[in-house]
Amino acid sequence: MQPNLERALHYINSHEKTFSSKEIQKAHEDLSACYRSKGKTQDIHNEAMVAAYVSARMPATHAVINTCLQKIATNFAPTSLLDLGAGPGTVTLAALDLWPELKTATLVEHQPSMGRFSKGLFDSLNLKTTFEHLQKDVTNFSLSTKYDLVTLGYVLGELNQDQQFNVLKKAFDATKEFLVITMPGTPHDYKTLMLARDFLIRKGGHIIAPCPHNNKCPLEITEDWCHFSVRLHRTKSHKHIKQGVLSYEDEKFSYLIISKKEACQDFARILRKPIKRPGHILLDLCIAQGTKREIITKSQKDIYKNASKIMWGDAW
Ligand SMILES: C[S@@+](CC[C@H](N)C(=O)[O-])C[C@H]1O[C@@H](n2cnc3c(N)ncnc32)[C@H](O)[C@@H]1O
Repeated sequence: MQPNLERALHYINSHEKTFSSKEIQKAHEDLSACYRSKGKTQDIHNEAMVAAYVSARMPATHAVINTCLQKIATNFAPTSLLDLGAGPGTVTLAALDLWPELKTATLVEHQPSMGRFSKGLFDSLNLKTTFEHLQKDVTNFSLSTKYDLVTLGYVLGELNQDQQFNVLKKAFDATKEFLVITMPGTPHDYKTLMLARDFLIRKGGHIIAPCPHNNKCPLEITEDWCHFSVRLHRTKSHKHIKQGVLSYEDEKFSYLIISKKEACQDFARILRKPIKRPGHILLDLCIAQGTKREIITKSQKDIYKNASKIMWGDAW
């Protein structure tokens, strides 16, 4: 587990008002019901629900944002982060795991209970980073500063369409280098993401991932949708709250990484779990011209060796 996520989970148990596992389970049920009926977390209005989000949901959203940030981490080390719809600070935690030298992190969140939690958490971590916690509505505030990295972690789906474009514009204008958007991996969220993608391309953004091109998404005219999956380990308490039996969960997600600068798109994206058959591997790829299936046979030696290690979501 990433060190800062572990510290956050420890913090919820040791520093926050301690809730019995029954109370957290009940709050988790309320949260899940809220997701099912409205697809939103806007009803996180009390400390028990924050504890439930942190214990049951944050490990998965953290794993997703970590997977996405890894894709830009090789040649990029931001000094400033703007975390919009920050919730308990999931994105900021993941960014700090990758870039401990981050100088400033601005977390914008409208729910006071979420903001209180993230402030307490980051104060307790004693890091060199300067944190700014703004209790604001992302649809209704103006930004004058620019940030190396701007993120919208699981928040776009909580806004109506006009609000989405309003926030996307603000987020893009405030970005110096990269804008990263994460969403649940459902067909509905994929559609939202495609509207965001078109909007940001029109604004002059360059797609870094997952798309290897700025053309129309080839999946838009199919029954399929672009999404990926990350496996995360469940701790004992995580398993208990979710009443799960497995020691892991697979979190499906969709995402978009936009750069302000021209991007290298000289790759293909693995769109599904590679199919391994005796003597050959089938790769479903997204390329500039659309989608294609590539068959890699054992006789292709080095290519086959690479293909046997490749995973759903990787660049090829
Ligand atoms: C699903 S949570 C995601 C939290 C965190 N970014 C993550 O990835 O785990 C969405 C967060 O966005 C916040 N949010 C929703 N609408 C908002 C708005 N208009 N202004 C500010 N925050 C908002 C919610 O309160 C919630 O904390």
